[in-house]
Amino acid sequence: MHQPRHTLWINARLATCDAANPAPYGALEGHALWLQDGRIHAVLPQAEALQAFAGAGEVIDAQGRWITPGFIDCHTHLVYGGNRAAEWEKRLTGVPYQQIAAEGGGIISTVRATRSLDEDELALASLPRLKALMKEGVTTVEIKSGYGLTLADELKQLRAARRLAAALPVEVATTLLSAHALPPEYAGQADAYIDYVCHTIVPAAAAEGLAEAVDVFCEGVGFSPAQTRRVFDAARAHGLQLKGHVEQLSNLHGAALVAEFGGLSADHIEYLDDAGVAMAVSTDLNPGTSPFASIRLAMNQACVLFGLTPEEALLGTTRHAAQALGRAASHGKLATGYVADLLLWDIEHPAEIVYGLGTNPLKQRVFRGVAQQID
Ligand code: NIG
Ligand code: FE
Repeated sequence: MHQPRHTLWINARLATCDAANPAPYGALEGHALWLQDGRIHAVLPQAEALQAFAGAGEVIDAQGRWITPGFIDCHTHLVYGGNRAAEWEKRLTGVPYQQIAAEGGGIISTVRATRSLDEDELALASLPRLKALMKEGVTTVEIKSGYGLTLADELKQLRAARRLAAALPVEVATTLLSAHALPPEYAGQADAYIDYVCHTIVPAAAAEGLAEAVDVFCEGVGFSPAQTRRVFDAARAHGLQLKGHVEQLSNLHGAALVAEFGGLSADHIEYLDDAGVAMAVSTDLNPGTSPFASIRLAMNQACVLFGLTPEEALLGTTRHAAQALGRAASHGKLATGYVADLLLWDIEHPAEIVYGLGTNPLKQRVFRGVAQQID
């Protein structure tokens, strides 16, 4: 675990995911990676690198393996209590998500389970999910609130997320998703709940520095575009970035609203009209619609179910995911000045990362220049 501040990774094939390198995957052959103090100090031809580096630190031989940037899971709801296997079983018989939500199941049942745990218990319940993501190469993860729906419970979720970040070698970006569902206390009073979100929860989360961004579930079973706009106005007023759960079950033009506000990302978008934009790929890890703690499964599904190429899937969890978290200048590429978060793979071709599931070809996960043990 203890490595010198300077390391030079040689004999690697670099999938840089950097558009500056025009080969597929931004591939660079014959180049070395010079890491220094948690950052990529230089990406340069190997002979040149060995000469310049001489004696500066440890030289690590990658033995011809591929290196990619660390994965960024830019959309998760991984801090929650309980699970919804029984509801899932029901959905498999044909009962729609909207109907389950209307009957008090769905998000609200996870709200009950999440409220019943304290911050420690919540962090502990969420730990295996985060560790599973990390084992597949996730080095940065976004975690949303949205299963508390009171000031105290929303902040508790965000604090649990921050606690996980402090305990593990992973970077966590927190997002406030208080406008996720209408809590039972506000039944029939969605506008009053939005007032509470805008005037109480958003200001408190901003004042405590607990969230980088604010998200809204803009949907028939969530909140209207007008209510979404009010939450976005509040986020902006408190200096927070914004994102949206939009066009997931119908097309309410929430993505256009996110764009109007200069938001970081419009997420889900199954019902969006065609749009020529950069596409990120994430697990959306949550107990209702995506109980999968596997970023490689998400990448595989992006190809098999949604027609992305393996290269697009890889960009979706690196360069484009960094963009979705406002980290395009520091994360998601093997390039000078970027964070030294990288993955060393036992593969012959980058498509293998996306192609086969059930085995894990990840040889080493490096976070801020330090190689981590993979169990
Ligand atoms: O991303 N769409 C809303 N939020 C989650 C679902 C949350 C849940 O069902 O618990 C999603 O799909
Ligand atoms: Fe989601």
